[in-house]
Amino acid sequence: MRKELETLRAEALERIAAARTEDELQEIRVRLFGKKGALTRLMKRLGTLPPEERPRSGELVNEARSRLEAVWEEKSRLWREAALAARLREESIDITLPGTIPPPGRRHPLNMVIADMENIFLGMGFSIAEGPEIETDYYNFEAMNMPPDHPARDMQDSFYISEEFLLRTQTSPVQIRSMEKTCPRLPVKVIAPGKVYRNDDDATHSPMFHQVEGLLVDRGVRMSDLKGVLLHFIREMFGPEREIRLRPSFFPFTEPSAEIDVSCMFCGGAGCRLCKGTGWIEILGAGMVHPQVLRMGGYDAGAVTGFAFGVGVERVAMLKYGIDDMRLLFDNDIRFLRQF
Ligand code: DAH
Repeated sequence: MRKELETLRAEALERIAAARTEDELQEIRVRLFGKKGALTRLMKRLGTLPPEERPRSGELVNEARSRLEAVWEEKSRLWREAALAARLREESIDITLPGTIPPPGRRHPLNMVIADMENIFLGMGFSIAEGPEIETDYYNFEAMNMPPDHPARDMQDSFYISEEFLLRTQTSPVQIRSMEKTCPRLPVKVIAPGKVYRNDDDATHSPMFHQVEGLLVDRGVRMSDLKGVLLHFIREMFGPEREIRLRPSFFPFTEPSAEIDVSCMFCGGAGCRLCKGTGWIEILGAGMVHPQVLRMGGYDAGAVTGFAFGVGVERVAMLKYGIDDMRLLFDNDIRFLRQF
């Protein structure tokens, strides 16, 4: 058996040295150390030797095995390293080559208007609030003083997800969410920009559009405060010559309610095609927060008052930049977007 081992060992060393390909090397490994490999078979035969020979022979087989394994490993390692080095040489990149410079992006006009509005209202001490776009019927309608059978719900064709959930049709539910968060502290003084959804789609309506909601609740808030805040906003947005007027209107969540018009920024109020000869352009809805809405928000309607307003961002962007088709804002045509 010792002789056999010697021969095996000598042959194996030779074959490892002679191996020229990775496949050959792997084959040698299987033939030597595999389950039915030569060394493994020798190992198994140890049991058939006379007991006094077993320890020494076992030692010799083990020794041969470790030696062969070490030689095999070393060759395999050298090959692996050489292969890796070759690949790295081939795949190396020239880091001195000029890169591709992405064209500079810019803000979408709608986001520019939202950012402008945020800055104007932050300047007046408002904070920015947010609410979910998937809203409950409760927050979107009920808490805004529009119970299930209220006809005003028809004005806002809604995308319902289930009986309880819908895509919010207005940012007004953020009024309630903000009051709930702040109550009983005062003031509640927030604007809430965001996306809203209605089942509407033509040149002047998109199923998704943007609003900015405003809410101020405190002791002694008056309608003149609303007018002052909105006049400042309009003049910051459309220029210092703008005037506003309040026209009586109706919203379920405000009393009294008003539609705010701005003096036409295209003709200065003289009357033109864009203001249909009236000199005024309707820009947003507003009013004094309805006592029921204050109560829904957790406040004592006998002790505090508030004003609220809601502005359509697309409308402001179209008036500010003279855009005549709202769909341009959503087409993502770079030739259009580059102009802002
Ligand atoms: N939520 C109204 C709408 O989407 C807009 C609005 C009007 C909001 C008056 C207000 C408000 O907060 O006071 O048509």
